[in-house]
Amino acid sequence: MNPVRLLACALVLSPLAAFVTNAADAPANWTKHCAKCHAADGSGTTKMGKKLQLKDYTKQAVQAKLTDAELLKATVDGVVDEAGKERMPAYKEKLSDQEAKDLVAYIRTMVKPEAEPAK
Ligand code: HEC
Repeated sequence: MNPVRLLACALVLSPLAAFVTNAADAPANWTKHCAKCHAADGSGTTKMGKKLQLKDYTKQAVQAKLTDAELLKATVDGVVDEAGKERMPAYKEKLSDQEAKDLVAYIRTMVKPEAEPAK
């Protein structure tokens, strides 16, 4: 692409990019902090997620068992097992309250419509 066209392109795209980053806070944070375990789509099907036996947030039944308060607490304080060993790190140092709440709302959007029961 010649420099003039490149510049024109950048001028058109940059306000759009700014808008997208603002609006995409939770997805961006999810990708950055959470997807390596919980998977991009929340299904928990990464190598790490399988090892940790993570829940599948794309399932309505899984989401129904979790309250917003539980989701928020896990995100902020992390999760430890019965022996007190860390299963998931706490994110209170890395995320603001609002970012944590936005992530909880984002997790709620991950539900996929249930497949039709097989007949
Ligand atoms: C190191 C892997 C790892 C990372 C990274 C991680 N988690 Fe988790 N997460 C876990 C594990 C393990 C559990 C506990 C699952 C269980 O006990 O069933 C968990 C549990 C949760 C829960 C509680 C609900 C549940 O599934 O039991 C929420 C909500 C959650 N994670 C959100 C997040 C968010 C949001 C991020 C990013 C800010 C994140 N996690 C990053 C491993 C991870």
